[in-house]
Amino acid sequence: MKYKFLYTALALPLLFGSCKGDQSNDTGADQKSAANKEEIYKGIPVTQKYNEKIDSLVAQMTLEEKTGMLHGNSMFTTAGVERLGIPELKMADGPLGVREEISRDSWAPLGIDDDYATYYPAGSGVSATWNPELAYTFGNSVGQEARARDKDVLLSPAINIIRTPLGGRTYEYFTEDPFLNKKLAVPFIVGLQENDVAACVKHFAANNQETHRDYVNVKIAERPLREIYLPAFKAAVQEANAYSMMGAYNKFRGEYLCENDYMLNQVLRDEWGFEGIVISDWAAVHSSVKSLESGLDIEMGTPKPFNEFFLGDKLIEAAKAGKISEEEIDKHVKRSLRILYSVNSMGDTTAQKKGSLATEAHFKDAYKIASESVVLLKNDESLLPLKTDELKSIAIIGNNATKKNALGGFGAGVKTKREVTPLEGMKNKLPSSVKINYAEGYLERYSKTEKAKLGDVTLSGPVTINELDQDKLKEAVEAAKKSDIAIIFAGSNRDYETEASDRANLDLPFGQQKLIEEVMKVNPKTIVVMIAGAPFDIQEINKKASTLVWSWFNGSEGGNALADVLVGNVNPSGKLPWTMPKSLKDSPAHATNSFPGDQEVSYEEGILVGYRWFDTKNIAPLYPFGYGISYTDFEFSEVKADKDSYGLNDTIQIITTVKNTGDMDGKEVVQVYVSKPESKVERAAKELKGFKKPEIAAGSSKTVTVQVPVKELAYYDVTSKSWKVEPGKYTFKVGNSSRNIKGEVSITISE
Ligand code: BGC
Repeated sequence: MKYKFLYTALALPLLFGSCKGDQSNDTGADQKSAANKEEIYKGIPVTQKYNEKIDSLVAQMTLEEKTGMLHGNSMFTTAGVERLGIPELKMADGPLGVREEISRDSWAPLGIDDDYATYYPAGSGVSATWNPELAYTFGNSVGQEARARDKDVLLSPAINIIRTPLGGRTYEYFTEDPFLNKKLAVPFIVGLQENDVAACVKHFAANNQETHRDYVNVKIAERPLREIYLPAFKAAVQEANAYSMMGAYNKFRGEYLCENDYMLNQVLRDEWGFEGIVISDWAAVHSSVKSLESGLDIEMGTPKPFNEFFLGDKLIEAAKAGKISEEEIDKHVKRSLRILYSVNSMGDTTAQKKGSLATEAHFKDAYKIASESVVLLKNDESLLPLKTDELKSIAIIGNNATKKNALGGFGAGVKTKREVTPLEGMKNKLPSSVKINYAEGYLERYSKTEKAKLGDVTLSGPVTINELDQDKLKEAVEAAKKSDIAIIFAGSNRDYETEASDRANLDLPFGQQKLIEEVMKVNPKTIVVMIAGAPFDIQEINKKASTLVWSWFNGSEGGNALADVLVGNVNPSGKLPWTMPKSLKDSPAHATNSFPGDQEVSYEEGILVGYRWFDTKNIAPLYPFGYGISYTDFEFSEVKADKDSYGLNDTIQIITTVKNTGDMDGKEVVQVYVSKPESKVERAAKELKGFKKPEIAAGSSKTVTVQVPVKELAYYDVTSKSWKVEPGKYTFKVGNSSRNIKGEVSITISE
């Protein structure tokens, strides 16, 4: 692992040997050793080695050749210059895996045979693992696939903050919390780029809703922008050395994000030192000169003659009319060339990695991520893990037991040969002596005529039909009646949770609420498994059901991983990456009536996004951020810090011992939240500042040290436009969710 450093908790840095990307993806050893070590992931910077060569190449190029490199010449490439040995820059969509090949000039699939890929868990699944090592595994694994498919850029990861539970892309994004976000984004990007594939971190930035995304003007005050919406992007640049960013569709403070001088030139490049390229979202460009001068490098888009793009003929005309200098154009061409060299598609091309596609090792990576992501919400009657030796029959109910999610909805999916459904997973994992009584239960149906409404706003998303089919209901009830136990696979799917539209409400779709209630009437031993990427209103179900599990659009091996959790081969260790509200109006964007706006949306909750709002305003969520239980129990000992007082450059060690008091090995996430009781600025009641996920054998204990650099305590001071650590007292609260604090310790930061 050339670029991944492990620092022992209290000792000097230790640099390990070879590049991890070269080896098999068996990360078991590292995951274990990571328990008491601090991991620092650092990416390889954009190469500057070929700058002279690049200058000479650009000097030989015509204006047409230069602009060719600045806009799409097909759906997912920009032009090369053959006579100078410059290849096309080739891109593919992520984040669920490498998208199938589509035609050069339309969205139609190419229909070839060698583009089957691994379907990896969606962003929400990865974040529910709370395991940066698995984010690295994901990045590294999908990077190998992208390289094998000859891609220079993977349009991934997607890391916008989850501002509203209704967000259509919540399933694709990681979390509502900026700290968890960056701790996952960085290793993902490092792992990906180790395979000679550039990450394209999206969508930069302040793109937190699908409604009106093409034009809505997002207004965020500077402090929340810096503290909530930008940290993961900044870490992507400064820690992971991401080679590209995707400019978002919407406007920010009056300017489209692909022509936003403040965001692209001032923040991204001048402040953060970004040396990569900014690629537009597809058809997100609105000008030629302005976008280029504001920091955009490449315009990508949807079908129209490619020369008609803003950075095509129009840019040539502008240059000829003296409206933009050729020097300015050269600057962007050079950036693009540096990325081609950085991924070894130019220069040392023989050193370029080869990659591999849809291998068993990659399916195993997908499995590992999925199996750590499943969240056990409730197990009041100890129905789980299933007592398979006593079970004679089990009802498997619900369309989601067989629904596949690699493809679906609007936006990128993965063409895969393997997607194990929950029903198949259960068949694989249950002893053959257990009789499975399957019933579809509810139908996935959408209205052809109805439009969804959120207040006065008409939404563009699918409207579900919520009446149950009576025959299907009857079948489900019969199956439950004749079985020892029933499991209902409910939730949503990628047709309902989808890019380009937000949901209108949190209601369970397709009549699931009624189905669950009717099944529970005939079989009290009913387990509800939700499969969804975003929160749903499960308040009523939560009151009635003794057993609740949450799973995600969880990749090629999702069904096997889920079944392994249900039968007890895997002890669940997933934790919610967002707050599950009791009701939509409790969520900050909705409580402040500031979603979705029309021409404009102003983020009125400021810094109080997600649990920061719930905890500061004392609103009880249904399930808090960071929540998830296990088949075993963990006890936390007294929480200590290694010192009472720290200077600005110090690192605080927060120490606790966790004991596994049950009889099953398991993993627990030790979460460290900080609060500043007296402050001259507004503060959230709690902010996540560190976490660690140790594996602890049954009956044994582990001392866990979480390191918090004092600089992590800084707030963004809008007056001086800089980060400031306020001196004084801070309280560190340690627990296993934002609401279940097991102990705390106070320390002082000296002047
Ligand atoms: C999405 C991007 C995606 C691009 C290309 C856009 O609609 O917002 O995330 O990468 O399409 O498919």
